[in-house]
Amino acid sequence: QKLQLNLEQIEKGGFDHFMLKEIYEQPLAIKDTYRGRLLVDDAIIKMVGVEDNMKRFLNADRIIIVACGTSWHAGLVAEYIFEDLARIPVEVEYASEFRYRNPVITEKDVVIAISQSGETADTLAAIKLAKSKGAFVFGVCNVVGSTIARETHAGAYTHAGPEIGVASTKAFTTQITILTLIALRLARANGTMSSSDYRRQLQELELIPEKVAEALKADKHIQAIAETYKDSRNMLYLGRGYNFPVALEGALKLKEISYIHAEGYPAAEMKHGPIALIDENMPVIVIATKKGHYEKVVSNIQEIKARKGKIIGIVTQGDVSVRELADHVIEVPETLENLSPLLTTIPLQLLSYHIAVLLGKNVDQPRNLAKSVTVE
Ligand code: G6P
Repeated sequence: QKLQLNLEQIEKGGFDHFMLKEIYEQPLAIKDTYRGRLLVDDAIIKMVGVEDNMKRFLNADRIIIVACGTSWHAGLVAEYIFEDLARIPVEVEYASEFRYRNPVITEKDVVIAISQSGETADTLAAIKLAKSKGAFVFGVCNVVGSTIARETHAGAYTHAGPEIGVASTKAFTTQITILTLIALRLARANGTMSSSDYRRQLQELELIPEKVAEALKADKHIQAIAETYKDSRNMLYLGRGYNFPVALEGALKLKEISYIHAEGYPAAEMKHGPIALIDENMPVIVIATKKGHYEKVVSNIQEIKARKGKIIGIVTQGDVSVRELADHVIEVPETLENLSPLLTTIPLQLLSYHIAVLLGKNVDQPRNLAKSVTVE
């Protein structure tokens, strides 16, 4: 047993938990995802699975993304990216709903299935259904040789390395990285992006790993914030645009490992319900980075403050407006709006991690959850 324990410690590489190790692996994992694919000097994105099927992608009436859990959140981010950059209509579906809904699927549809494990039963069933209707199915998986990787017509691996912690972290950011690469490649192919914007995107994407490393430096500060709010019964996560799915993912991370009830909402929807919950006992995490509806989010923050909610702002480095209003701010480096989820996710992962640790929860293996759900 002693040997077993030591082995596990070695696997954790000096970190207390796999989840923390995987959070810290993200700069490298993202680099591994774009390695050999993102060729900034040549202004090229090279992905065999996309190149070989370019016609299918460009002739698609729409892209349907199917996934579950955190992978579904990556799909939601991708919806914003594909529509914004490549101007292709996108629908994002929970695989479990899609498979039983008698959905309208045609041969002109491209389905992208996202799955870390490549084994999720509902996602697999959705793929089989889409294939039976003649759609072209592209897989985004992490586990090489997994069932979903084999069942899809083509695909791209995230190459994030093994993810052991049940709460998904590096799988999420590497999925967004891959989906960004695909969207950029398609944007270039169908002429929806100028070559200068395209170059700028490539350059900024290449810088993301070092910016993630920079965002990780807030760890100690986040731990102190976790200490302040660890006994909360509820938490609300708000974001807009590209950062709305990040709010959902932040809330999911907290629920999964700390068992604190949390909800993610588009900031502007707050007035249609969640605002009724806000009082001095309600911490609200607001993603308020500079690009992307900043002024509107600041006014949402004012509404929270007027109701005495506690505000934790995720802001761009050097921000002043939110700092004046919020109880705490956590800074992330500046980047292009569509790449910001790769940075704003980091403090939310760390916040849920520290809260769970402080509450003495089993971070890597939370109750009732499984790393891969191979049954319905
Ligand atoms: C489980 C895991 C989640 C994961 C989801 C989808 O619920 O606990 O972390 O996001 O399955 O898994 P997949 O392997 O398909 O991405």
